[in-house]
Amino acid sequence: MSDELYHKCHEAISQGRAILEDLQQWGFESIITSPQEEPVPMAIQPDSALTPENTNTLSEMEINLKNCCLCPLSKQRKNIVFGAGNPQARLVLVGEAPGREEDQQGIPFVGEAGKLLDKILLAMNLSREEVYICNVLKCRPPGNRDPQADEIAACEPFLKQQLALIQPELIITLGRFAAQELLKTTAPISKLRGKWHEYEGIPLMPTFHPAYLLRNPSGKRPVWEDMKKVMQRLN
Ligand code: URA
Repeated sequence: MSDELYHKCHEAISQGRAILEDLQQWGFESIITSPQEEPVPMAIQPDSALTPENTNTLSEMEINLKNCCLCPLSKQRKNIVFGAGNPQARLVLVGEAPGREEDQQGIPFVGEAGKLLDKILLAMNLSREEVYICNVLKCRPPGNRDPQADEIAACEPFLKQQLALIQPELIITLGRFAAQELLKTTAPISKLRGKWHEYEGIPLMPTFHPAYLLRNPSGKRPVWEDMKKVMQRLN
Protein backbone atom coordinates (compact mmCIF):
# COMPACT_ATOMS: atom_id res chain seq x y z
CA MET A 1 0.00 0.00 0.00
CA SER A 2 1.37 3.47 -0.88
CA ASP A 3 2.14 5.92 1.92
CA GLU A 4 -0.54 8.30 0.62
CA LEU A 5 -3.24 5.62 0.58
CA TYR A 6 -2.11 4.47 4.00
CA HIS A 7 -2.47 8.03 5.37
CA LYS A 8 -5.92 8.41 3.79
CA CYS A 9 -7.17 5.08 5.19
CA HIS A 10 -5.78 5.93 8.60
CA GLU A 11 -7.47 9.33 8.57
CA ALA A 12 -10.81 7.82 7.44
CA ILE A 13 -10.68 5.21 10.20
CA SER A 14 -9.79 7.82 12.82
CA GLN A 15 -12.72 9.99 11.70
CA GLY A 16 -15.04 6.98 11.74
CA ARG A 17 -13.91 6.07 15.22
CA ALA A 18 -14.45 9.64 16.45
CA ILE A 19 -18.02 9.62 15.05
CA LEU A 20 -18.76 6.26 16.66
CA GLU A 21 -17.38 7.51 19.97
CA ASP A 22 -19.59 10.60 19.75
CA LEU A 23 -22.62 8.40 19.05
CA GLN A 24 -21.68 6.18 21.97
CA GLN A 25 -21.66 9.20 24.25
CA TRP A 26 -25.20 9.98 23.03
CA GLY A 27 -26.29 6.48 23.96
CA PHE A 28 -26.12 4.69 20.61
CA GLU A 29 -24.58 1.56 22.10
CA SER A 30 -26.02 -0.81 19.52
CA ILE A 31 -24.26 0.92 16.65
CA ILE A 32 -20.88 0.70 18.37
CA THR A 33 -21.20 -2.96 19.22
CA SER A 34 -22.66 -4.03 15.90
CA PRO A 35 -20.49 -6.89 14.58
CA GLN A 36 -20.33 -5.32 11.10
CA GLU A 37 -18.36 -2.42 12.52
CA GLU A 38 -15.65 -4.57 14.07
CA PRO A 39 -13.20 -5.76 11.42
CA VAL A 40 -10.47 -3.29 10.53
CA PRO A 41 -7.68 -4.46 8.20
CA MET A 42 -4.62 -5.37 10.25
CA ALA A 43 -2.24 -3.12 8.34
CA ILE A 44 -4.14 0.02 9.30
CA GLN A 45 -4.88 -0.57 12.96
CA PRO A 46 -2.67 2.08 14.54
CA ASP A 47 -2.89 0.96 18.15
CA SER A 48 -2.46 -2.77 17.78
CA ALA A 49 0.48 -2.34 15.41
CA LEU A 50 2.56 -0.39 17.89
CA THR A 51 5.44 -2.86 17.69
CA PRO A 52 8.00 -0.95 15.66
CA GLU A 53 9.42 -4.13 14.15
CA ASN A 54 6.11 -4.53 12.28
CA THR A 55 6.56 -1.32 10.38
CA ASN A 56 8.34 -1.08 7.07
CA THR A 57 8.53 2.65 6.45
CA LEU A 58 9.22 5.66 8.64
CA SER A 59 5.83 7.18 7.87
CA GLU A 60 4.08 3.94 8.85
CA MET A 61 6.05 3.99 12.10
CA GLU A 62 5.15 7.60 12.76
CA ILE A 63 1.45 6.90 12.33
CA ASN A 64 1.60 3.91 14.63
CA LEU A 65 3.40 5.93 17.24
CA LYS A 66 0.75 8.66 17.21
CA ASN A 67 -1.26 7.21 20.09
CA CYS A 68 1.70 5.79 21.99
CA CYS A 69 1.25 5.68 25.73
CA LEU A 70 4.05 3.27 26.60
CA CYS A 71 5.48 5.64 29.21
CA PRO A 72 4.12 8.46 31.39
CA LEU A 73 5.56 11.18 29.13
CA SER A 74 2.59 10.57 26.83
CA LYS A 75 0.29 12.24 29.37
CA GLN A 76 1.93 15.64 29.11
CA ARG A 77 3.09 15.83 25.54
CA LYS A 78 1.51 18.14 22.98
CA ASN A 79 3.10 16.33 20.07
CA ILE A 80 5.25 13.29 19.48
CA VAL A 81 8.54 14.37 17.93
CA PHE A 82 9.23 11.40 15.72
CA GLY A 83 12.09 12.67 13.57
CA ALA A 84 12.59 14.66 10.39
CA GLY A 85 14.67 14.67 7.27
CA ASN A 86 15.65 12.34 4.48
CA PRO A 87 14.47 8.72 4.99
CA GLN A 88 17.48 7.66 2.89
CA ALA A 89 19.95 9.91 4.66
CA ARG A 90 23.62 8.98 4.66
CA LEU A 91 23.95 10.69 8.03
CA VAL A 92 21.62 10.45 11.03
CA LEU A 93 21.92 12.74 14.04
CA VAL A 94 20.46 11.49 17.30
CA GLY A 95 19.68 13.94 20.10
CA GLU A 96 18.29 13.47 23.57
CA ALA A 97 14.63 14.46 23.79
CA PRO A 98 12.29 17.19 22.57
CA GLY A 99 12.21 20.48 24.44
CA ARG A 100 9.34 22.94 24.71
CA GLU A 101 9.52 24.26 21.14
CA GLU A 102 9.88 20.78 19.69
CA ASP A 103 6.92 19.54 21.71
CA GLN A 104 4.83 22.41 20.39
CA GLN A 105 5.81 21.95 16.76
CA GLY A 106 6.37 18.18 16.61
CA ILE A 107 9.74 18.75 14.89
CA PRO A 108 13.17 17.96 16.35
CA PHE A 109 15.70 20.67 17.13
CA VAL A 110 13.68 23.79 16.33
CA GLY A 111 14.58 25.75 19.50
CA GLU A 112 17.83 27.54 20.37
CA ALA A 113 19.89 24.33 20.36
CA GLY A 114 18.37 23.52 16.97
CA LYS A 115 19.48 26.86 15.54
CA LEU A 116 23.02 26.08 16.60
CA LEU A 117 22.71 22.60 15.10
CA ASP A 118 21.62 24.19 11.81
CA LYS A 119 24.78 26.32 11.87
CA ILE A 120 26.94 23.26 12.48
CA LEU A 121 25.26 21.47 9.56
CA LEU A 122 25.69 24.52 7.36
CA ALA A 123 29.39 24.63 8.20
CA MET A 124 29.54 20.97 7.16
CA ASN A 125 27.85 21.90 3.90
CA LEU A 126 24.81 19.85 4.84
CA SER A 127 21.13 20.75 5.03
CA ARG A 128 18.36 19.35 7.20
CA GLU A 129 16.78 17.90 4.07
CA GLU A 130 19.86 15.79 3.38
CA VAL A 131 20.28 14.33 6.86
CA TYR A 132 17.83 12.71 9.26
CA ILE A 133 17.41 14.09 12.79
CA CYS A 134 15.72 12.28 15.66
CA ASN A 135 15.97 11.80 19.41
CA VAL A 136 16.31 9.01 21.95
CA LEU A 137 12.95 10.05 23.43
CA LYS A 138 10.06 11.00 21.19
CA CYS A 139 8.17 12.91 23.92
CA ARG A 140 9.24 15.87 26.03
CA PRO A 141 10.29 15.20 29.61
CA PRO A 142 8.60 17.80 31.85
CA GLY A 143 10.76 20.85 32.48
CA ASN A 144 13.38 19.36 30.13
CA ARG A 145 14.64 17.08 32.89
CA ASP A 146 16.97 14.19 32.03
CA PRO A 147 15.36 11.16 30.37
CA GLN A 148 14.70 8.34 32.83
CA ALA A 149 15.71 4.71 32.33
CA ASP A 150 12.12 3.47 31.89
CA GLU A 151 11.38 6.17 29.31
CA ILE A 152 14.54 5.33 27.36
CA ALA A 153 13.67 1.63 27.47
CA ALA A 154 10.12 2.27 26.22
CA CYS A 155 11.33 4.40 23.32
CA GLU A 156 14.38 2.31 22.40
CA PRO A 157 12.68 -0.03 19.88
CA PHE A 158 11.47 2.99 17.90
CA LEU A 159 14.94 4.53 17.61
CA LYS A 160 16.41 1.15 16.69
CA GLN A 161 13.81 0.60 13.99
CA GLN A 162 14.30 4.12 12.63
CA LEU A 163 18.01 3.40 12.23
CA ALA A 164 17.31 -0.06 10.80
CA LEU A 165 15.00 1.44 8.16
CA ILE A 166 17.29 4.33 7.23
CA GLN A 167 20.52 2.31 7.33
CA PRO A 168 22.71 5.41 7.35
CA GLU A 169 26.39 5.32 6.52
CA LEU A 170 27.23 7.33 9.64
CA ILE A 171 25.60 8.32 12.92
CA ILE A 172 26.36 11.36 15.07
CA THR A 173 25.08 11.26 18.63
CA LEU A 174 24.53 14.60 20.34
CA GLY A 175 25.21 14.57 24.06
CA ARG A 176 25.55 11.95 26.73
CA PHE A 177 22.20 10.17 26.53
CA ALA A 178 22.23 9.34 22.83
CA ALA A 179 25.83 8.09 22.94
CA GLN A 180 25.29 6.01 26.07
CA GLU A 181 22.04 4.58 24.75
CA LEU A 182 23.33 3.47 21.35
CA LEU A 183 26.73 2.33 22.58
CA LYS A 184 25.33 0.66 25.70
CA THR A 185 27.92 2.26 27.92
CA THR A 186 27.98 4.46 30.99
CA ALA A 187 31.22 6.18 29.96
CA PRO A 188 31.04 9.99 30.14
CA ILE A 189 30.59 11.97 26.93
CA SER A 190 33.97 13.64 27.49
CA LYS A 191 35.58 10.20 27.07
CA LEU A 192 33.36 9.06 24.20
CA ARG A 193 33.42 12.10 21.92
CA GLY A 194 35.88 12.58 19.14
CA LYS A 195 36.48 8.88 18.54
CA TRP A 196 34.78 6.53 16.13
CA HIS A 197 32.57 3.86 17.69
CA GLU A 198 30.14 1.42 16.09
CA TYR A 199 26.42 0.87 16.36
CA GLU A 200 25.27 -2.31 14.58
CA GLY A 201 28.22 -2.04 12.21
CA ILE A 202 27.56 1.66 11.48
CA PRO A 203 30.37 4.09 12.38
CA LEU A 204 29.15 6.40 15.15
CA MET A 205 30.71 9.68 16.27
CA PRO A 206 29.61 10.99 19.66
CA THR A 207 29.92 14.73 20.20
CA PHE A 208 28.70 17.34 22.66
CA HIS A 209 25.04 18.38 22.60
CA PRO A 210 24.33 21.80 21.03
CA ALA A 211 22.48 22.84 24.22
CA TYR A 212 25.71 22.21 26.13
CA LEU A 213 27.55 24.41 23.62
CA LEU A 214 25.11 27.24 24.28
CA ARG A 215 26.15 27.13 27.94
CA ASN A 216 29.81 26.27 27.26
CA PRO A 217 31.01 27.92 24.06
CA SER A 218 34.52 26.52 24.64
CA GLY A 219 33.06 23.14 23.60
CA LYS A 220 32.53 24.41 20.04
CA ARG A 221 36.13 23.81 18.97
CA PRO A 222 36.16 20.11 19.94
CA VAL A 223 32.76 19.66 18.28
CA TRP A 224 34.16 21.13 15.08
CA GLU A 225 37.08 18.69 15.30
CA ASP A 226 34.56 15.84 15.61
CA MET A 227 32.55 17.14 12.66
CA LYS A 228 35.66 17.34 10.49
CA LYS A 229 36.17 13.63 11.09
CA VAL A 230 32.58 13.01 10.00
CA MET A 231 33.02 15.14 6.87
CA GLN A 232 36.20 13.28 5.95
CA ARG A 233 34.34 9.99 6.12
CA LEU A 234 31.30 11.28 4.25
CA ASN A 235 33.42 12.62 1.41
N1 URA B 1 17.40 18.80 22.35
C1 URA B 1 17.36 17.54 21.88
O1 URA B 1 18.11 16.67 22.31
N2 URA B 1 16.48 17.27 20.92
C2 URA B 1 15.66 18.16 20.39
O2 URA B 1 14.89 17.81 19.51
C3 URA B 1 15.73 19.47 20.90
C4 URA B 1 16.60 19.77 21.86
